[in-house]
Amino acid sequence: MDLLIVGSGLFGLTVAERAAAAGRRVTVIDRRDHIGGNAYSEAEPETGIEVHRYGAHLFHTSNATVWEYVNRFTEFTSYVHRVYTNHAGVVYPLPINLGTINQFFAAAYSPEQARRLIASQASEYDPKTAASLEERAIGLIGRPLYEAFIRDYTAKQWQTHPRELPAEVISRLPVRYTYDNRYFNDTWEGLPVDGYTAWMERMVDHPLIDVRLSTDFFDETQPWNKRAAIGQLPVVYTGAVDRYFDYEGGELSWRTLDFEQDVLSVGDHQGTSVMNYADASVPYTRVHEFKHFHPERADRYPTDRTVIAREYSRFASREDEPYYPVNTPDDRAKLLSYREMQRVEKDVHFGGRLGTYQYLDMHMAIASALNMWNNVLA
Ligand code: FDA
Repeated sequence: MDLLIVGSGLFGLTVAERAAAAGRRVTVIDRRDHIGGNAYSEAEPETGIEVHRYGAHLFHTSNATVWEYVNRFTEFTSYVHRVYTNHAGVVYPLPINLGTINQFFAAAYSPEQARRLIASQASEYDPKTAASLEERAIGLIGRPLYEAFIRDYTAKQWQTHPRELPAEVISRLPVRYTYDNRYFNDTWEGLPVDGYTAWMERMVDHPLIDVRLSTDFFDETQPWNKRAAIGQLPVVYTGAVDRYFDYEGGELSWRTLDFEQDVLSVGDHQGTSVMNYADASVPYTRVHEFKHFHPERADRYPTDRTVIAREYSRFASREDEPYYPVNTPDDRAKLLSYREMQRVEKDVHFGGRLGTYQYLDMHMAIASALNMWNNVLA
């Protein structure tokens, strides 16, 4: 074996695929019982509807190298992501745009009129000197829109009122002065035609790649464990960086999500793939309805049933799935100490979301893995 890869998320799979294509013999281990990391999806058994087990995954990129690379393994549908939000029993389009503003203020403002209105409402605080997330948000979009669309939603995400959250949590709040409610601005967007798992299985379908599932790097009863591997061969590690060092520099903080999945006996529950719930009176942040990610599968999906997942957000404990880095000043100091520790680890390459303590979209994880392969490992 020439290379051990810990973690079969898109970072690990990209390195594995490149290494095998270059003639290296690779073993990929993952402690889960499936490949794909958080991008994994599966057919819900009762309905056959593809469900994203770790939260909705929408592929989008403006990186031509990444787009060319991913198209070697899958074609993409023409799905375009749009999100709506329910506030006080009324549904509005997101991100906040001219449609949201005109609906909220029951008006027909032109772009310039809306711009002037929001600027006058935002003059309450200067976002540059804001003392909290609340002040910064009001300084960016004004109090009425903040209170309707940001305040309670953010409080649910962080289990903390925005007036108690540091201003740095947000740098900007996009407001579009057009009716464009396309969620992503990237050149390419779509979903893998036969699902995420089929895409990722094709990446490792190579005689030089050996995949071992339900195999934890820290389990010393299995042959590819940390003690046995380090110093013996190059290792690409995409698990949590603090766990690698046995939390010696302290625990990094993460937010996690809980999903409550249901099969409903209706053909269509909400008419769209993602509906946010902006108000404190609803405990979940959003509801996903998976069949809407694939309108082109209408002839294959049931017309009398649908699968939804309500999403709840909270701080993660060590046993939970780490999803989003919290990234407090304390976390950043710990991360620096882990980066120091990494320097002395012989031939261990830390990558991916967990290995670098960074939120990475899929295209970013793939780009970063291609860089690691081209510039370090190859
Ligand atoms: P990833 O977390 O996928 O994989 C790491 C793997 O390492 C896991 O399979 C884990 O089991 C394994 N591992 C960890 N410790 C181990 C150990 N000790 N031994 C063995 N294996 C171990 N992106 C995007 O482009 N569009 C989107 O819409 C979304 N949506 C989204 C929603 C949510 C809720 C999250 C959390 C993330 C997204 N993403 C996203 C981001 C996307 O999931 C991310 O880019 C990829 O997961 C990154 O791949 P990685 O390989 O870095 O990590």
